[in-house]
Amino acid sequence: MTMADLGTEALRTHVAAQLQRARDRSVALTDAVDDDDLVRQHSKLMSPLVWDLAHIGNQEELWLVRDVGAREPVRHDIDDIYDAFQHPRADRPALPMLSPAQARAYVREVRDKVFDILDTSPLEGRRLVTDGFAFGMIVQHEQQHDETMLATHQLRAGAPVLHAPPPPPGRPLAAPEVLVPAGPFTMGTDVDPWALDNERPSHDVHVDAYFIDTAPVTNEAYAEFMAAGGYDDQRWWSAEGWAYRHKADLTAPRFWVRSADSGGHRWLRDKFGVVEPIPPDEPVVHVCFYEARAYAAWAGKRLPTEPEWEKAARFDPATGRSRRFPWGDEDPGPEHANLGQRHLSPAPVGAYPAGVSASGVHQLVGDVWEWLDADFQGYPGFQAFPYREYSEVFFGGDYKMLRGGSFGTDPAACRATFRNWDHPIRRQIFAGFRCARDASPAELA
Ligand SMILES: [Fe+2]
Repeated sequence: MTMADLGTEALRTHVAAQLQRARDRSVALTDAVDDDDLVRQHSKLMSPLVWDLAHIGNQEELWLVRDVGAREPVRHDIDDIYDAFQHPRADRPALPMLSPAQARAYVREVRDKVFDILDTSPLEGRRLVTDGFAFGMIVQHEQQHDETMLATHQLRAGAPVLHAPPPPPGRPLAAPEVLVPAGPFTMGTDVDPWALDNERPSHDVHVDAYFIDTAPVTNEAYAEFMAAGGYDDQRWWSAEGWAYRHKADLTAPRFWVRSADSGGHRWLRDKFGVVEPIPPDEPVVHVCFYEARAYAAWAGKRLPTEPEWEKAARFDPATGRSRRFPWGDEDPGPEHANLGQRHLSPAPVGAYPAGVSASGVHQLVGDVWEWLDADFQGYPGFQAFPYREYSEVFFGGDYKMLRGGSFGTDPAACRATFRNWDHPIRRQIFAGFRCARDASPAELA
């Protein structure tokens, strides 16, 4: 059963549940700290948490109250403050933001109207509302900001306030990499109702034969790169990467800290305020694109291209079709992937055998966003919808693609077609990577 099969009333129920789940998460992330923590900027890279909260409400008001519902504005006067394009994150603390109490009241008032609009709005006819798209867009927007707020929590100093059970244990993999034979596959989608404009339209892409790692690169493997002097060997780095490695004095993934009790020889990690040993078999996280690329070069490999990643995730050789998710069209469950902040870290390699793709590749969805050797561009026939600022204004910018979602990504904001992008220097996001390589003629014979 997928959303496309739902009748109108079932779709309304589904939308309401998704809105509520997103809001429960936003409330949990903002109620976890006091008002002082909500208004403080924990890093120049991030907004104050209370900005994110009211911005969530403001986007919801703009699209669902004013546009879909054609209602009077709730707070016309604050549109500018919460326009992400008007104010870079570093400048947001200086804005006359709503206080925590005002922000909470505002998002509640907006949501109350939205539930009323959802009850009566036709979910067909106009493209913006067909299959509940505008509601789905707002659900995804809130969940994306929740992941951003989770990253702010990771940057926040102080006692731990977030808690979750550990991820399931890992299992041995059959092989370290898999061969994906040459041939075409269908990339992108025309049919996923809540897919965003940059995932469309679907189109056939030929991909040469390649090998791709069965799992993301682990902490243990990454530590070997470090121990081999990878950070000090220019051969593995691009020119921009080498310059940034020195400018930012990169020596290890972000949030790795040297252990004081071993003379500084052992690494620990700071995970949401808990300093702990680094699990060797978990995917490495909090590395930037340049570090991922350097590791891949050191390993004699490279990062996957975007078609390579998506083909490994979606293509089913038995039927020739592309799936919504690695395991099939079914929405993600806890058995498939480490999504939705159920755990506060990536899961060890092999932890999700039910989530394996038809090509035999594990953990493509969930755990860590995966850096790709790809810039952000629209697919052939791209059309901006419903606004240029969602994707199009970022095309051709200084961005690298990220795929698959992390442990902090909600299932509602994650599909095997979902495309994320960020600056190649970013390390506070929950990003890791896996490697790929060309298949040689001898290996194909
Ligand atoms: Fe936003």
